[in-house]
Amino acid sequence: MKAVVVTDFGTHPLLTDLPMPKPGPGELLVRIHAAGVNPFDWKVADGALRDAVPHAFPLVMGSDGAGVVVETGPGVTRFRPGDRVYGQFMSLPQGHGSYAEYTLADQDGKIARIPESVPFTLAAALPTASVTAYQAVEAARLEEGHTFLINGASGGVGQSAIQFAARAGARVLATGTPDLADHLRDLGAHAVIDFTVAPTHEQVAAAHPEGIDAVLDLVTPTGGDTSPMAGLLRAGATLVSTNFATDPGALAARDILGVNLGNSPTAETLSALAELAASGELRVRIDAEVPLHEAPATIAKARTGHSTGKTVIVP
Ligand SMILES: NC(=O)c1ccc[n+]([C@@H]2O[C@H](COP(=O)([O-])OP(=O)(O)OC[C@H]3O[C@@H](n4cnc5c(N)ncnc54)[C@H](OP(=O)(O)O)[C@@H]3O)[C@@H](O)[C@H]2O)c1
Repeated sequence: MKAVVVTDFGTHPLLTDLPMPKPGPGELLVRIHAAGVNPFDWKVADGALRDAVPHAFPLVMGSDGAGVVVETGPGVTRFRPGDRVYGQFMSLPQGHGSYAEYTLADQDGKIARIPESVPFTLAAALPTASVTAYQAVEAARLEEGHTFLINGASGGVGQSAIQFAARAGARVLATGTPDLADHLRDLGAHAVIDFTVAPTHEQVAAAHPEGIDAVLDLVTPTGGDTSPMAGLLRAGATLVSTNFATDPGALAARDILGVNLGNSPTAETLSALAELAASGELRVRIDAEVPLHEAPATIAKARTGHSTGKTVIVP
């Protein structure tokens, strides 16, 4: 089967031929019809988890995917061949990812069935970005009328987070370039902050001198400094970082809850999000659908930024 792999940490992704995976006890073999691209995919290939978990090389990149179960291993009771499924496919050791024609999943893992009306490309765009957005908005402790800044709102996580926060009754301040302003407002943003004209925290501080209720920071990198965003918050507020950039201890001294969020999809959350996507209550903008052989070039482009939605690889 064809797959996109790295042969060591930090090497260039390559399209290659690999033996067909064989489902073991409790496992499913899934024909991947679409694989969602996330920044985490190249962070893993670069070695972000090298000291935390085992890896297997050649490492098939990618985590998010959607496809059809083609074979089940011994003891599988929850799924059968022909089921349309989606979720996060990367399992330990890191290496059996979704940028491939086939991959394996644990029947008790981070997968769920897809409603018939949801295309594979839409399903593949959901797992990491929309689950993270859903869990980040929950962690932000929003109440009706709260003012909530999403820093990095124009990307995959941010666009879903706008919708969940607006549904929770928050007034969403969303960062984004002017070309995306109408789209972000349409998703539920109350105001759009052009982060290219002046620092976001200065613009928000000028408009909200009384302080705001919560921030979701998708931009400050690991080891970065969230204090400019924290400086916007009133006592009792919440700062959620997806890049482990908050210092909860320091924030607690100001009566602010700091949360370093790592997404943890469950089958139940995935099923709920698939239903929201089916009903149109959760919208995901797909920027590009690219064939598997273009994945290495797509990854290189995605690393340079200006994500305005999700990219999906179609093996
Ligand atoms: N902890 C977890 O479980 C978890 C899960 C998912 C994602 N993440 C992390 O969360 C971050 C966001 O993920 P994503 O999938 O949404 O990424 P993405 O699709 O690449 O989106 C990032 C967005 O941030 C915007 N941006 C860049 N610099 C900015 C700035 N200074 N101010 C405001 N916006 C800025 C980008 O706009 P331009 O491209 O126009 O610059 C882009 O639209 C990534 O670092 C990712 O690794 C963590």
